[in-house]
Amino acid sequence: MLGKIQQIIILPQYYCIVSQHNTSLSLKDYNTFGIDTQAKKLILLIDLTQLREISNLQDCLIIGGGSNILLTQDIEQTVIVNQTKGIRTLNENEDTIELAVASGENWHEFVMHCIANEYGGIENMSLIPGSVGAAPMQNIGAYGREVKDVLTYVKAIDIRTLEEVVFSNAECQFGYRESIFKKSAIGKYFICEVGFKLTKQYHKLNTSYGDIEKWLQERCFSSPTLRDVSNAVIAIRKSKLPDPAELGNSGSFFKNPIIDKAHFEKLKEQYPEIKSYPIDETSVKVPAGWLIESMGWKGKKVGNTGSHAKQALVLVNYGGANGQEVYALAKAIQQSVKETYQIHLDMEVNVI
Ligand code: EPU
Repeated sequence: MLGKIQQIIILPQYYCIVSQHNTSLSLKDYNTFGIDTQAKKLILLIDLTQLREISNLQDCLIIGGGSNILLTQDIEQTVIVNQTKGIRTLNENEDTIELAVASGENWHEFVMHCIANEYGGIENMSLIPGSVGAAPMQNIGAYGREVKDVLTYVKAIDIRTLEEVVFSNAECQFGYRESIFKKSAIGKYFICEVGFKLTKQYHKLNTSYGDIEKWLQERCFSSPTLRDVSNAVIAIRKSKLPDPAELGNSGSFFKNPIIDKAHFEKLKEQYPEIKSYPIDETSVKVPAGWLIESMGWKGKKVGNTGSHAKQALVLVNYGGANGQEVYALAKAIQQSVKETYQIHLDMEVNVI
């Protein structure tokens, strides 16, 4: 798995993989796009207390599950891959449970842990790639649920002062694929723990979004369980979204743009088939997948990359693509959508 490791130094509580002089380490296994860029130094962090021993923490590139990054160059900085683990119960009563989860936990494994224990609230977010610590960064969401709906706090370490800071849900300033960690707090914190409040009974299932209801009805699940909903989401995601283990990708590459209603009405006259979701009285959300597909990108292969055949919003690595190539495709898609619809597509993925 770790092809080019030259030397492994076992430290008391975490292990640190360091390349020898003039050689470097591939980051291919640490980003779901499978982009083969190199790092000069890589640290796999399994114990938070050891963060304090990393002298130049401010200059390091910290990655979690690597599911929301596009690496376009070799990384000169030290790369820290967060692999801290642990799920603790903070409080519980008959109806609810509060959990503290280490940021390095895999998101989907955490969802599966909750399903197995009958904890409700995150079943619609099954199979989202990435880590628990990355979830609040962009307020991950799927099928009508977002992480902000169940998150109680984010514990983080200020990478300058090494002080611990706790952000309440409100302080995280969540929005659609947005949080303080992508805005004013960008690059300032190492998220180390996330708190969740989940239901133990009287679960509030949301099956109204997308094809979940249809999937359940077809299988005669008239009163679905958490596991049924999770299974529906997993099946629907698998049918549309490529598995990063088989085809490198970062999920949705762009956000769904939110535009002025007046702008939308004008576009609707010209393109009656354009889709939208209501937001408020003055704005609507337009599915980026529709815009991209309408420009003919869906399923189109450009070199080693392309827009996925089943979901235009997902850019994929067909094998051997470099980050620049994917970035160039993303720019070309942005430009064509802008020219035709006067809509700017924001990248959801962090380009490094
Ligand atoms: N559409 C097309 N062509 C496509 C894809 C989509 O026309 O190739 C149109 C269709 O009209 C469809 C609509 O877009 O009805 C919505 O598509 P879909 O239900 O697949 O959802 P999405 O808006 O494209 C969002 C999230 C996904 C999340 C799904 C389901 C964003 C940027 N993406 O996609 O999140 O799984 O909803 O809730 O908000 C991710 O962030 O990585 C991600 C996969």
